[in-house]
Amino acid sequence: MDFKTQVAGAGGLASIASDALLVVVAGDAVPKDLDKALADVLSAAVAHGDLSLKPGQVFYAHHVAGVKAPRVCFAAAGDGAVKGFRKAVAAGLGALKGGGAKSVAVALAGAVDAGAAHGEALVAAASDALYVYRATKPSAPAASKLASVAFVVAKAQQAAVAAGLKVGEAVAAGVELARECANRPGNHCTPSHLAAEAKRLAKGHGLKVEVLDRKDCEKLGMGSFLAVAQGSAEPPKFIVARYHGAAKDVAPLVLVGKGITFDTGGISLKPAAEMDEMKFDMGGAASVLGTLRAVAALKAKVNLVGIIPTCENMPDGRAIKPGDVVTSMSGQTIEILNTDAEGRLILCDALTYAERLKPAAVVDIATLTGACVIALGHHRSGLFSADDTLATELLAAGEKAADLAWRMPLDEEYDEALKSNFADMGNVGGRAGGAITAAMFLKRFTAKLRWAHLDIAGTAWKSGAAKGATGRPVGLLTHWVLSQAK
Ligand code: BES
Ligand code: MN
Ligand code: ZN
Repeated sequence: MDFKTQVAGAGGLASIASDALLVVVAGDAVPKDLDKALADVLSAAVAHGDLSLKPGQVFYAHHVAGVKAPRVCFAAAGDGAVKGFRKAVAAGLGALKGGGAKSVAVALAGAVDAGAAHGEALVAAASDALYVYRATKPSAPAASKLASVAFVVAKAQQAAVAAGLKVGEAVAAGVELARECANRPGNHCTPSHLAAEAKRLAKGHGLKVEVLDRKDCEKLGMGSFLAVAQGSAEPPKFIVARYHGAAKDVAPLVLVGKGITFDTGGISLKPAAEMDEMKFDMGGAASVLGTLRAVAALKAKVNLVGIIPTCENMPDGRAIKPGDVVTSMSGQTIEILNTDAEGRLILCDALTYAERLKPAAVVDIATLTGACVIALGHHRSGLFSADDTLATELLAAGEKAADLAWRMPLDEEYDEALKSNFADMGNVGGRAGGAITAAMFLKRFTAKLRWAHLDIAGTAWKSGAAKGATGRPVGLLTHWVLSQAK
């Protein structure tokens, strides 16, 4: 998909040569400055009850008199702010994508001027509308013939919107990589596959990748990570991918992604219903790869390291059992009371490993708890951090990317639930506040770090008819990393 900006000529929108024209309408009335030919159709559609100017509503017309583009689609965007704009573009392209148009010109009409954020939202909506999973379904038909999108803007806005398109394209490519990885079934997307993906990404984008195997991890004392991996025939991998965009002595930002390529629950086996969705349990890892891709494409002036502990969680004769005690890389011992609370067991060793990078900040991203889905549903990711500045930065990045998070508490009182008679801590704290006690477990491994945790259990994928990975939170993470460039 090709994106560009275009300045409307003297003839206005009506004279634009494109297979389709998508007019995104801001406000609840027909915009005064809209070309007459377009305004007439829009007024009539509103008057006849065929279009209400509520966000996401669309009206489609063919061969409008006085308009050069053979297809015209109006989509209502509410007040014209980015959220409504994105919704309108998604709905408009939804109406156009199955048709014959190869090129579409998009314009924002009404009181609001398009800006960088609109450019970014346009790319996000378009790539979302046109994504098709093909890796294990090569017969899947293309979503659309659409191949080029031009954002029609005023001269004064062109530079800002073009910059927005550029960020949008990088984020969209990162989101797509994350979706591609996460959508692949567990027998395809193994820990070795993720390691190969990281290496492929490194080749294409100038990253340095190191993949530690079981022996390397043993030497480092990663007893907790390896305990989860021991029930699987698939060899575990510990991936470290480095992007250098700033001077060597600039402390890196570190992203740690949970890479459970399939979570059966282990001996604490999960119920059968929807267990297939546990192939998405490497969504955190996928988002780390996607963010590295976006940041590298934008040549951001930061140093960024992605760390991915990856393995399967399987029941087996060699698998960990409830009550087993393991020693983490930090030296702290853990009583594994529930083998299904495996994410924190692989992340804790990755967080300890992160210490040696002397990072400016560490953010882990994990499909960690069903409890987070109960708490926040599927719209916002859970954000946990004891550092108010870091939390504020991450929330703001989410707003900017329309990839929202919500801050959750980390009060010391929650830590009591992790007490164990047989180890320094248990790996579960009971049903109450399950997303928080999981975060408190991770917090025990972050004393030396500026750290935040994103629980993406509710946001990394969709269930039901639209089952599939979302690529979240690549947008949030990319914007946060960009905000840290000096
Ligand atoms: N990967 C799951 C979390 C999950 C479950 C994400 C359902 C999305 C939907 C995680 O490894 C897990 O199993 N967590 C347990 C923790 C519990 C045993 C304390 C959970 O949430 O049930
Ligand atoms: Mn689990
Ligand atoms: Zn899991």
